[in-house]
Amino acid sequence: MLQNQNRRWIGSCAVALATLAGCGGGNPMITSPTTLRAAAQRHGLVVGTAADSGHFSEAQFTSVLSTEYSDLTPENQMKFGPIHPRPDTDPNPYDFAGPDALVAFGVAHKMKVRGHTLVWHSQLSTWVTGGGFDATQLSTILRSHIATVVGRYAGKIFAWDVVNEAFNDDGSIRSTIWYDSPGIGFSGMGTRTIEQSLNWAHLADPKAKLFYNDYGAETQNSKSDAIYAMASDFKGRGVPLGGVGFQFHVDLGFNNTGTLDSVKANFARFAALGLDIHVTELDIRLSDFSAGSLAAQADLYSKLIALCRTQPAVKLVQTWGFTDKYSWIPYFFSGMGWALPFDADYGKKPAYTAMFNALTAP
Ligand code: XIL
Repeated sequence: MLQNQNRRWIGSCAVALATLAGCGGGNPMITSPTTLRAAAQRHGLVVGTAADSGHFSEAQFTSVLSTEYSDLTPENQMKFGPIHPRPDTDPNPYDFAGPDALVAFGVAHKMKVRGHTLVWHSQLSTWVTGGGFDATQLSTILRSHIATVVGRYAGKIFAWDVVNEAFNDDGSIRSTIWYDSPGIGFSGMGTRTIEQSLNWAHLADPKAKLFYNDYGAETQNSKSDAIYAMASDFKGRGVPLGGVGFQFHVDLGFNNTGTLDSVKANFARFAALGLDIHVTELDIRLSDFSAGSLAAQADLYSKLIALCRTQPAVKLVQTWGFTDKYSWIPYFFSGMGWALPFDADYGKKPAYTAMFNALTAP
């Protein structure tokens, strides 16, 4: 509550600053924010994006990334397959060059870095999926993977998506190589695999905030009910869960009062457990880039940012990329695209202005 009041105070102070050039005898050097990063900071919010260090040779890419955002996360480069492409028996099992460059960029530009992701059924190495390992061997592989990757970036990555997408939409646990096919030893034992993964990550970096991250759990539904039950159980038993990540890969159908009210109520129950909330992969896909569609997209971006500002547990909002040039949407949602705040030429879209205005609004 105190934090909420602080945030409000900072917000109204920011508005006063724009007109009076001072607040409480303040600093005349302080001016109105001109970037998402500066605007978000005034509410204690971090605004970030997924990125790939493969694009760092592009001046416009790095310039927008470092000026507009205060956080970044690797879109793919820390997933198991890309970061751990060869077995542990190989003299060189890991590929750290790409993720190291991403972390170095974050540190150099005073950005926070989120880690994504350690335990997921997708984008795995074929040496793991095709290795014929039993549960004991898989447990050794995963424990060592988590210790190595989290340990390497300890003190530089402030939050990790430890486990990604472990639940089905109906709230049951997804059948994966880590859970039950054959799993790491807790097949059929509910959330024990997730708990073990969190404990391993916590050992490797006791200071990092550890997250469970998923899609389709933004509103109150069977999946978010199951995540909530898990989170409540973990908090009760001292399992090191620090927050929940909500992905927010949405379309314009998300823009209705019932849905947004449900997100609000959902956020409130996770906040009441004392967990941080991160919006981890926000994008709003469109089926065309008409002025009407871009305006509707902007309206939804604005409403989501405003909603986040009403819930003090929301500490961070990340979009899944920032320029339509590199968005994953056209490759995964046929006929759709134009999902991000910057267009393919790095021009600011109405969505950008909407985000900025929602962050600067009193
Ligand atoms: C996506 C990337 O954006 C793509 O480049 C890749 O080909 C597939 O994965 N949920 C997640 C992200 O947690 O890691 C996914 O990222 C998008 C859905």
